[in-house]
Amino acid sequence: MSTPTLDIRNLTLGFKGYTGFTEVLHGISLSVEPGERVALVGESGSGKSVTARIVLGLLQELRTARIGGSVLFEGRELDGLNKRERHALRGKAMSMIFQDPTSSLNPVFRISDQFHDVLRRADPRITRDAALERAAAILAEVSVRDAERVLNAFPFQLSGGLNQRVMIAMALANEPALLIADEPGTALDVTVQAQTLQLMRKLVEEHHTAVLFISHNLGVVREFADRVYVIYKGRIVEQGPTRAVFEGPRHPYTRALMAAVPRLTGGGIPDIDEDSPDFGAPLETHDAEGRA
Ligand SMILES: Nc1ncnc2c1ncn2[C@@H]1O[C@H](COP(=O)(O)OP(=O)(O)OP(=O)(O)O)[C@@H](O)[C@H]1O
Ligand SMILES: [Mg+2]
Repeated sequence: MSTPTLDIRNLTLGFKGYTGFTEVLHGISLSVEPGERVALVGESGSGKSVTARIVLGLLQELRTARIGGSVLFEGRELDGLNKRERHALRGKAMSMIFQDPTSSLNPVFRISDQFHDVLRRADPRITRDAALERAAAILAEVSVRDAERVLNAFPFQLSGGLNQRVMIAMALANEPALLIADEPGTALDVTVQAQTLQLMRKLVEEHHTAVLFISHNLGVVREFADRVYVIYKGRIVEQGPTRAVFEGPRHPYTRALMAAVPRLTGGGIPDIDEDSPDFGAPLETHDAEGRA
C-alpha cells in the first residue's frame, strides 16, 4: 500500500486552563490516502476542528495546548518540524477551506495580491504577471467568468458565493496533497453550499487531492466522502466506507446521528444512553465489504 497522505495515530489533546487540565481528544487515529475523500463527522464540540488545527500545525503554537500521539504527513512526523517548516507546509502541501470565506480572506488586500501571496509559497520567485495569469486560470476552473474584475476587487466587494469560489481556488492553487475542508460553505446559503461542494468535488477529482472533510451534516457526507469516521466526545467510535456505515451503522451514537432530522445547520441529535452495554464497545470498524 502507498504511504497515506495523512496518518494520525493515537492523537491526544488537552488544554491547560485556570481550572486545571481538560482533555478534549482521547486518542484519535485516522488516515487519508492520496486522492481519497474522508469525512470526519460528529456533533458540535466533539473535536473535529481541533483535529484539523493540529494537522495544519496551528495548535502546536498555542501555549495552553498539550498534544500527544503522532501526525504523519506523507510519512513525515509533524512533531519533528519547527515553526517555520510547519508554516511552509501550510498553503503549499496542505491547505484549508473554512466555513466562512471572510475568515480566511484578508479584508484589506485585493484578491490579486492575496493570490500572489499564496502562489509565492510554492514558487517564491513567481512574478506578479505570472501569478495573475495562473490565478485567472484557476478562477476559471471554479467557474468565475470575469476573473479580471474579481482579481481587482477587495473581498467586501464580492458576494459570499464569489468569495467562497475565490477561497476554493486559492486553497487549490498550489495543488496541495491534502485539503482540509471544515464545514465548507455552511456560513452561506444552501445553494452556495451545494455549489461549493460540487466545485470542490470536481477539483479534487481532477487534481487527485486527498481531502479531510469535516461536517456535522450527514447528507452532505454521504454525497461527498469515500470513507467516514464518526467522532463522539473526542473519540472515534465508528469508521468505514461511507456506504457500509450508512447502511449498517453499528455504534449507538452513529445510529442516533442518523436518526436525527437532517438539517443543514446540524444539531437535533436525540438523547442516547451512554450507560447501555453497547455504548462502551470498542471502535466499530467496517471493512470494504461492510462486514464486521
Ligand atoms: N483554544 C481552546 N482552548 C480550550 N478549549 C478549546 C480550545 N479550542 C477548542 N476547545 C475545546 O475543544 C473541544 C472541541 O472543539 P472543536 O472546535 O474541535 O469542536 P468541533 O467538533 O469542531 O465543533 P463544531 O461542530 O461546533 O465546529 C470543545 O470542547 C472546545 O470547547
Ligand atoms: Mg468546528
